[in-house]
Amino acid sequence: MDSTSKTKISLEIIYNQKSFSHSIEKESSLSLLEHLNQLRIPIDQSCGGFGTCGTCMIRVKDNLKNLSPRTECEEEMSLDRGFMPEERLSCQTYVLDQVVIEIP
Ligand code: FES
Repeated sequence: MDSTSKTKISLEIIYNQKSFSHSIEKESSLSLLEHLNQLRIPIDQSCGGFGTCGTCMIRVKDNLKNLSPRTECEEEMSLDRGFMPEERLSCQTYVLDQVVIEIP
């Protein structure tokens, strides 16, 4: 077995009422937004991933606990805009384990 192989986890994305399942590396250093960009999933990102515009917001449909906690700037925006717990800024979020998300 290849000692450099990394554990893969499932990232399921609901987009345009269709569901797509992708395999991503566990404990990846990429943010959720960076994964979406790599997978060529169209999502707005007006501020370029700096957590200031809110356009990259996604909804978590299953396994919210498998995402990283809110960063300070995401917490500020979520309080300011009244985000529900399952509404997350993809640029400020890291996938820790299997999760299902929806692009609104
Ligand atoms: S890209 Fe602007 S808040 Fe995420």
